[in-house]
Amino acid sequence: MSDIPTTNKKLINWVDEIVALCKPAKVHWCDGTKAEADKLFAEMVASGMAIKLNEQKRPGSYLFRSDPRDVARVEKRTLICSKDKENAGPTNNWEDPVVMKEKMRALYNGCMEGRTMYIIPFAMGPLGSPIAKYGVEITDSPYVVVSMRIMARVSTEVLRHIEKEDFFVPCLHSVGQPLKAGAKDVRWPCNPENTYIVHFPEESTIWSFGSGYGGNALLGKKCFALRIASNLARKEGWLAEHMLILGVKTPAGKKHYVTAAFPSACGKTNFAMLIPPKALRDKGWEISCVGDDIAWIKPDKTGQLRAINPENGFFGVAPGTSEKTNPNALHSCDSDTIFTNVALTDDGDIWWEGMTKEPPKHLIDWQGNDWTPDMIDEKTGKPKLSSHPNSRFAAPARNCRCIDANWESPEGVPVDIFIYGGRRMNDIPLVYQAHNWSHGVYIGATVGSEQTAAAEGQVGALRRDPFAMLPFCGYHMGDYIKHYLDMAKIAKTPAVFHVNWFRKTPDGKFMWPGFGDNARVLAWMIGRIEGTAPAKDSPLGYIPAYEDIDFTGLDFSKADFDAVMAIDPAKVSAQADANTDYLTNTIGRLSPEMVAVSEDIKARCK
Ligand code: GTP
Ligand code: SPV
Ligand code: MN
Repeated sequence: MSDIPTTNKKLINWVDEIVALCKPAKVHWCDGTKAEADKLFAEMVASGMAIKLNEQKRPGSYLFRSDPRDVARVEKRTLICSKDKENAGPTNNWEDPVVMKEKMRALYNGCMEGRTMYIIPFAMGPLGSPIAKYGVEITDSPYVVVSMRIMARVSTEVLRHIEKEDFFVPCLHSVGQPLKAGAKDVRWPCNPENTYIVHFPEESTIWSFGSGYGGNALLGKKCFALRIASNLARKEGWLAEHMLILGVKTPAGKKHYVTAAFPSACGKTNFAMLIPPKALRDKGWEISCVGDDIAWIKPDKTGQLRAINPENGFFGVAPGTSEKTNPNALHSCDSDTIFTNVALTDDGDIWWEGMTKEPPKHLIDWQGNDWTPDMIDEKTGKPKLSSHPNSRFAAPARNCRCIDANWESPEGVPVDIFIYGGRRMNDIPLVYQAHNWSHGVYIGATVGSEQTAAAEGQVGALRRDPFAMLPFCGYHMGDYIKHYLDMAKIAKTPAVFHVNWFRKTPDGKFMWPGFGDNARVLAWMIGRIEGTAPAKDSPLGYIPAYEDIDFTGLDFSKADFDAVMAIDPAKVSAQADANTDYLTNTIGRLSPEMVAVSEDIKARCK
């Protein structure tokens, strides 16, 4: 073929091999241009896979409806195929790489019959950044092509970097539904029975089959930027984290950057773009967004940690996003956005639960059926949802009104604070601060959260989610903890905090207003690292007193504060024992520092 746009032998050979295996009808090298995307959108509209939204209301935007069996990440079919089973660790599914490749080669054999194979060169991070990395995704899904164009940096220029480095992460993806001659395509091809999302960490290679949705299919995101990157980061001395990155400007004009790890659908997008309450804005507090899901964090020559957002867009949870909860996310979706599994309004726009107080009188729901607000779901007996709970928008980061001036800075932004948090309706206070780095690592390692709709499983069930990386850590979690501890040898360690926006009263109401008001907690944290905010000690770590948090303009009494900050030493002590047991017996490869922290917490509970 004379139209191959690269001279890199590894890439050419890999493409040849995959063409021979998958047997596509056509091969297309993507250039990432708008013209290319527009052509694909037009084809998908013509075939019924996409709906073009009202150009006046939602320019350049499209709605997709997935197969109802393909709506979230499938953790039980996600594997880390390291050579040695032990190295995948107890939190990952594992299969022998040779066995898995044989099994998947049989699935890939002829899987692109009748379809076009797209080759997508992409960068994770700004092109040329010393922290950025390059990949190539091969896919038979045009939806993946247009989504990758928003979520990563897709261009022919990427090929020049791959040629220079002679390295890229090969990402193979197929929806796993060949189109036999004469057969009519379905709206959302997929293959749920044979879905596998497989990582070969020693080869930095990804093979995904059967799903077209989100992290299963947009392979730059969780597969590359977290599971493969966490392996590279461990080798190279940096961190690949499930973290948002935000900038805070203080009233004195000082700029700080903060990263925060919350499990899937636990508020990263909201926190990353929050608008402080008026009282704090009037004092001069400003927040800007660098990223909402993934951070690559590397020490520079001085040991200062610097973070880049490897992504180029937001793949955010749609339901609950509103003018009130997250206007910056809502307006990021004003144009050039891909919506998946939300409802369609009668005037060709989109809607989801929580977008407006009053739902529209009529909608077409995420499965393409008529919907009215009075409908009841037969299975649950509750009001019928117009949008899937894990419906998402893919919006370009440049659309965000509060995008940080340095969000594409190649050297990254300096980070001084790491925050961990989960969705915890009981026991866990609004905020506390680690005493030191190993305490901070312990806080990350022992994150727990109630499960959300972002993956299969029982929504609401409390599960451990160390570093919010349970589904994304590409190696043994015990080694992950050790790698974190070792960062202290090569980097200035940040201050570490734990937050819980989700504590509830016995009658089920959130005790903390959350959203924009989370800026009040953030302001205290900034005061802590600037040395201006007081704290007192507690069994869990340093905590603020009522007077230490700026509640101007908010009706939040000392009693409200005491309730949301309440710490029960007996429960904390029992939890410390449970943590030691978890880290020793469930995770293993124990770092003794972790047990020492548990013991210290128990001593403080006495
Ligand atoms: P992934 O993209 O899945 O990694 O998740 P994310 O962490 O970016 O999730 P996102 O910010 O989209 O979380 C959305 C959910 O968190 C919605 O149910 C919100 O209502 C809820 N949420 C976010 N911030 C707050 C908060 O401060 N308080 C409360 N009560 N809920 C919040
Ligand atoms: C998550 O589940 O944490 C996400 C969405 O950010 S997905 O990209 O589908 O993994
Ligand atoms: Mn995520």
